[in-house]
Amino acid sequence: MIKKSIIYDFNNVMNDRIKSPAGISLEEIESYRQKASEIHRTLTSKRKNGELAFYKLPYRKNEVKNVKKTGDSVKKDMGNNFENLLVIGIGGSSLGGIALIKSLTHQFYNLLPDTVRKTPRIFFVENIDPDEIKGLFDILDPEKTAVNIISKSGNTAEPMANFLLFQKFMVEKIGEENFKKQVIATTDSSKGTMRKIADDLGIKTLSISEGVGGRFSVLSAVGLFPAYLMGIDIDSLLEGAAYMDKLCKNEDIFKNPAYMNAVIHFHLHTRNGVNMAVVMPYSTALAEISVWYRQLLAESLGKKNSLSGEVVYAGQTPIKAVGAIDQHSQIQLYCEGPFDKIITILSVDTFKIFLNIPSLYESYEGASYLGGHTLNELFNAEKQATVLALVKSGRPNIEITLPEINPYTIGQLFYLYEVQTVFAGYLYNVNSLDQPGVEAGKNYAYGMLGRKGYENMKEEVDNFPEKDKRFIIS
Ligand code: PA5
Repeated sequence: MIKKSIIYDFNNVMNDRIKSPAGISLEEIESYRQKASEIHRTLTSKRKNGELAFYKLPYRKNEVKNVKKTGDSVKKDMGNNFENLLVIGIGGSSLGGIALIKSLTHQFYNLLPDTVRKTPRIFFVENIDPDEIKGLFDILDPEKTAVNIISKSGNTAEPMANFLLFQKFMVEKIGEENFKKQVIATTDSSKGTMRKIADDLGIKTLSISEGVGGRFSVLSAVGLFPAYLMGIDIDSLLEGAAYMDKLCKNEDIFKNPAYMNAVIHFHLHTRNGVNMAVVMPYSTALAEISVWYRQLLAESLGKKNSLSGEVVYAGQTPIKAVGAIDQHSQIQLYCEGPFDKIITILSVDTFKIFLNIPSLYESYEGASYLGGHTLNELFNAEKQATVLALVKSGRPNIEITLPEINPYTIGQLFYLYEVQTVFAGYLYNVNSLDQPGVEAGKNYAYGMLGRKGYENMKEEVDNFPEKDKRFIIS
């Protein structure tokens, strides 16, 4: 495993280089120094006071020990029967785990023969789509499946409904006692319905520490437990995060990639109308990192009110793209559409394998020029070509390069984006840790399903103005 630093390169946002008003000048970056120092001091003191608990995650030796112990006991209890791990969660309780597993396991992991895979298959269920759940009932053998239910609040309707469904499905087939051996709840240490259920059932539990919010929880038991069961080196993951933490302790924005990324995104958004932030990995394995980041950015910075109570409607819209696929889909818009996007190109220096493209069809120029090159060369050339095209059309872009995809570099990436997000919260002067917009939707749903205490929400829904039939076509 190459334990090297990821590289953060912001050359291509500089006005002089991209020759476009969408970029930023050195003087403009410099002008953030004082604000950055103030935010740095606020973050440092909050961190010292035990707030912003995600900062501690790279160093939680006990949490790692617990994760491993619990994982080992599941493996022991299930023995050779451990064929599947089903992870139930949603949003911050799921997206980090998905990104982690997808980036650090075989691309067709679940389809590998058992003898090669050696660890269970993994399935994440987020949605409450009846067809999807039935699909899982069809393929998962209850005797051979462990369930990890993850919910920080322990009250979210989607994972709770899915948990109830799987409990019934499994208990009917294997009985309550076996089910209890095969289920692990990752939830708050004392609060919430899931904690009560777990205590009632007497099942294995892992706690999400106080102050670690969903979208900042990937380096806690939320992401570590499934990762450990898939054989991922979670110590190196946290070591990578701790390395990034060292860089992120720098007050100087020119030495701190998280602060610099926040400054650039904030400035381009608020001064130049760059309303969208695209993350485009040139790697299928990293595609889910964009999805995780999309939620981190959207829920943390998309806020109506500022910390001082003014209406600000803050937030850049995050967009997922994947290279080279989106060269044939979104790049046209990025290069020639409005100057409203900043694009981060995530790339990988060394892939696990070099694949030679065979020299076939010598007489067909359209195929023969590829022969003798590696697929890696083609991928890299396409990435460079995209960057050049973006620069040439004056589109600000950032390059983040991983020496290779491994737990150490992925740990760095997660941590960089988390620090960037809380820092950006202070630039926007919004609370990056709450999600009142999400809560509103959750509460309406509770009301509609008749949950006690949410009667007023039901009333609001019932009294919502009727729809005008003139505006419905069928
Ligand atoms: O990031 C967040 O806080 C949210 O996306 C939550 O993770 C999501 O709503 C699920 O909540 P919980 O883990 O409490 O079930």
